[in-house]
This record gives sequence, C-alpha cells and structure tokens, in this order.
Amino acid sequence: MLTTFSTELRPDDRILTGDRPTGPLHLGHLVGSLQPRVVLQDQCPQTLLIADLQALTDNGHQPQHVADNILNVVADYLAMGIDPAKTTIALQSAIPALSELPMYYSNLVTVARLSRNPTVKSEIKQKGLSDSLPAGFFTYPISQAADITAFQATLVPVGDDQLPMLEQTNEIVRKVNSIAGEMLLVECRPLLSHMSRLPATDGQAKMSKTLGNAILLGASPDEITRAVESMYTDPGHIRVSDPGRVEGNVVFTYLDAFHPDKSEVGKLKGDYRRGGLGDRKTKQILNDSLQELLAPIRERRKQFMADRAYLTDVLREGTLRARIETDITLQRVKSSFGLGLLGNLTTV
Ligand code: TRP
Repeated sequence: MLTTFSTELRPDDRILTGDRPTGPLHLGHLVGSLQPRVVLQDQCPQTLLIADLQALTDNGHQPQHVADNILNVVADYLAMGIDPAKTTIALQSAIPALSELPMYYSNLVTVARLSRNPTVKSEIKQKGLSDSLPAGFFTYPISQAADITAFQATLVPVGDDQLPMLEQTNEIVRKVNSIAGEMLLVECRPLLSHMSRLPATDGQAKMSKTLGNAILLGASPDEITRAVESMYTDPGHIRVSDPGRVEGNVVFTYLDAFHPDKSEVGKLKGDYRRGGLGDRKTKQILNDSLQELLAPIRERRKQFMADRAYLTDVLREGTLRARIETDITLQRVKSSFGLGLLGNLTTV
C-alpha cells in the first residue's frame, strides 16, 4: 500500500499526533494513520500521544473505560510496526506541562471563538452533549494546542476533521509570540494522508465499536469473515447476472485499500459492472486479503498484550522523554509571561 502525503517534509520537521484511547484501533486507523506513521518514523522525530485526558472530556462519567484502553492502543501501535526506538509513545495525563499550558492558553481564547470551532460543534451534536456539555470538552481545542506546541511540533498528521484544531493552535501560537515579543512557539502545518477515509462496513461514514461496523486490528478470523459477509454492497445488485455498482460499494472500497494487486481489482470492477460477478465472490476475495493482512498483526498484538510489563515500560520511557521536552516549553512560556520568578522547582 502506497502512502503519499499532502506536503513535503522538511529536514527539521518534528511530528506530533495523538489518539484518544477509547477503544482498540481498527482498519480505518490502519489506513488513515498507522501506516503513514510507520513510514514517517524513519524520516523525522515523531511523538505519538495517547490522549487520555482528551478522551476523558466526554468520558468523565466512565474514566475506567479510558484507562482500560491505554495499553490496547500501545499494543496496536507496536503490532503495526511503530518502533519505540524511533517513535516516542507518551501518555498525556503523565505529562504535567500538558495540563499546565492550557491554563495559560485559555486566557487567550474567547468563549465565542471556542463556540465557532466546527469540529467541536459537530461532535457536540453527534454525541448528544448539547444539554450537558462538559467544560473540558468545550475547551479541548486549547488542550490540543498545548499538546502540539509543548512538543514544538511543526507537522501534525491528522484527518481533515482536525484542521480546525490546528488553525486554533496557530492562533494561540501567534498570540503567545506577540506577548513574548519573540518567536517562542512555532506554527504547525497539517499532514494529510492521501488515502481517503475508509467507510464503515455498513457503508456509514463513521466506524464505531458500539455500532459493530468496524474491523479491529485484533479481530479473529471469524470476526473478519462475519464483518465482510455483512458488508454493504449495491442493493440494486440482486442476481449475479445483474450489472452492479462499484461506487459506494464497501467491498470495492476495501479491495481498493487492501488488495495487493491493483490490476486484479480493476478487472473485478469491470466484471462486476458488466454483470456476472456475484457479491459472494467479491466478498470471498476481500476476506482472503484481509485474513492475510491481519493474521500477523493479530499475532503480534496478542504477544504484546500478554506482556503488559513491556507495554508499560515502553510507555514509561516515552513519557519520561516527553516530560523533559514539554517542560522546556512550559518554562519558556512561563518566563516570557514574567512568571518565572521561582524557576523550575519540579524534578522531572
Ligand atoms: N483530537 C485527536 C483525535 O481525536 C487526538 C489528539 C489529541 C491529537 N491531541 C492531539 C491529534 C495532538 C494531533 C495532535 O483524533
């Protein structure tokens, strides 16, 4: 699978990106974020932040759900080939600077500006939070700006839904720099993967574990088969001999993403459009590809999950490195605001 990006990398780029640990990762992550990260770790310094504090902003009533998924995400990273010797894997809640910086930034952002953030707006609707909006959720763009700037990240690989977060981050950067009277913080740019978003197995735009329309990286052979068998195809394609539609047909979207032989997929599309190729056959081909792709990932994931001490060590080491890096930014912001009187009293 080829990964191309929306922007050229520069030699001094620093990459930060993050995931909310609200469940194990799935095929959408594999295509949209995990494979690009595996490529990027050989090109620039890269940090992956497990954003448990951000996950809590809409899971305040069930913190255990967030806690339970932290090592799941670490195992998913490692099973996919993220190498902790190249990529720093860090835990947000264990990095004090990521809780302190938002206290400074929140005075530079208006409630009106937060209300206009289109991603937060649509998430509030989608998650039904309109009547019970946690303050932490409303302000999480400020926290995300702290994540990005604390690491002095220049490049942030994200889906296009995250672009408003980067815009808000850069507004904060400019405000801080103007108060500091120097280029204390750097602006970041997004790195969009050219792979378009993978639809859910039922054809919905969003994959979710509760809807059961996502294939997890750790899915068993049976779970993969069942998910493929229930995939949304072309409802007008009733008999094998009927001409079928490839566009919007999830089986073909997945074949495009996962079948190793592009010309074979082209041929299948032609046959399907003409009529004479049944869904049973296309699903069988897709099932074979996915079984082959996921078998080694599932195996590695199982081994990592059986060694929680190793996963914890990886996370601890990455987090300790991240604490040192981010504390430098925090101290610089504090002293530029004239609040460095006592110096750094914390021992990291
Ligand atoms: N908001 C991101 C998401 O939901 C996760 C995230 C948290 C993040 N902090 C970040 C992404 C910093 C990029 C940079 O996917």
